[in-house]
Amino acid sequence: MENICLLGASGSVGESTLKVLRLFPGYFRLHSFSVHGNVEKAKSIIEEFHPEFAVISGSHDSILGSKYNDTKIYYGSEALSEIASLDEVGTVVTAIVGAIGIYPTIAAIEKNKKIAIANKETLVSFGPYINNLLKKKSSILVPVDSEHNALFQLLALQKPENIRSITLTASGGSFRDLPIEKLSTVSVEEALNHPTWKMGPKITIDSAGLVNKGLEVIEAHFLFGIPYEKIEVVIHPESIVHGMIETNDGAYFSYSSDPDMIFPVAHSLFYPETVKTLLRERKPASWKNLQFIQPDMKRYPALSMAYNAGKAGGTAPGIFNAANEEAVSLFLNRIIQFTDIPILIESALEKIKIEYPETLLGYEEAANSARSFIRNKYLKEAV
Ligand SMILES: NC(=O)c1ccc[n+]([C@@H]2O[C@H](COP(=O)([O-])OP(=O)(O)OC[C@H]3O[C@@H](n4cnc5c(N)ncnc54)[C@H](OP(=O)(O)O)[C@@H]3O)[C@@H](O)[C@H]2O)c1
Repeated sequence: MENICLLGASGSVGESTLKVLRLFPGYFRLHSFSVHGNVEKAKSIIEEFHPEFAVISGSHDSILGSKYNDTKIYYGSEALSEIASLDEVGTVVTAIVGAIGIYPTIAAIEKNKKIAIANKETLVSFGPYINNLLKKKSSILVPVDSEHNALFQLLALQKPENIRSITLTASGGSFRDLPIEKLSTVSVEEALNHPTWKMGPKITIDSAGLVNKGLEVIEAHFLFGIPYEKIEVVIHPESIVHGMIETNDGAYFSYSSDPDMIFPVAHSLFYPETVKTLLRERKPASWKNLQFIQPDMKRYPALSMAYNAGKAGGTAPGIFNAANEEAVSLFLNRIIQFTDIPILIESALEKIKIEYPETLLGYEEAANSARSFIRNKYLKEAV
């Protein structure tokens, strides 16, 4: 029985993880979890799973007291690192959103945990630092992002020298068929209406402009050590094929499943063992008319910015990510237009000097500069 610490239990990946725990009660136990502000969800998780510890990371007020039922309650974001490093925990699932995930991720690596990592912003922003730390520890990262989980499984079947390229598929997001000139007037509600995946608001907005795919290109580079020149992106509106690898002879191997996070979550929890049966009714015959389309960089300018930031290295990916986190928040609060998001990212990348620090602080400072730059820019001038 593996003890699971689930960070971000109230979100979309959190819910998929809870589904897997319900499916396999004999294999996994919810030992501890966090929510940020959703106290009602925390109560219902405690009532259903009876974990040892719960964290309400967005509050220092003792909203639920020190105990709810028999579960001990901690408050504030520092407690995320505490539960992620408890001796009894075997696997930490990082399903919180944003680069704030770095602190519990470091705590889990320090304690040699297996980490089922969904929180891509952390890896994108602090990739070199995390990879250095991983070299000194026996912790492993198992990707939960569906594309990376697919690639993780595909890459295990080939010798590294036989890989010519890897391909991440992208649904194309909410506006893939909208004329480009209409993108500046889309509403928040339209942007949140993803065609194939049900996800949290930030990643849904990221997907609409392929910023998400840009983050994933950088995530793939840090996870698999593959150079950017060998990482491809293709629009695949049906979201059935999640990742492909091309071998030196020009053949493509692909991983396919219904667009349901239950697959990568179950794989990452069972890894290195194989997943026990997941009964699914849908069969390949129902996967009709699968398309693969080259992305149009005019429609998705942030994708090429992400490649450039990744190739520049150092703090550039963290600046890209931090600027995007701020810009998405401004868009969700109806302060800027959808098309302002890549403009703001680009201006942050132009303005803030790229550094190649060896300390965590160096990466944090660059990301903080990007955040302040976007906030100040917005306050000073109409975007
Ligand atoms: N959704 C997907 O299918 C999917 C797929 C691949 C990768 N991912 C990645 O997985 C991560 C989570 O995505 P999601 O779609 O599940 O997001 P989500 O539905 O918005 O959930 C976010 C979770 O993080 C918590 N949270 C929010 N702000 C926080 C903060 N400042 N500190 C600590 N916790 C905080 C939320 O708590 P409250 O609800 O209590 O506020 C919630 O539990 C993201 O990095 C995303 O890119 C998601």
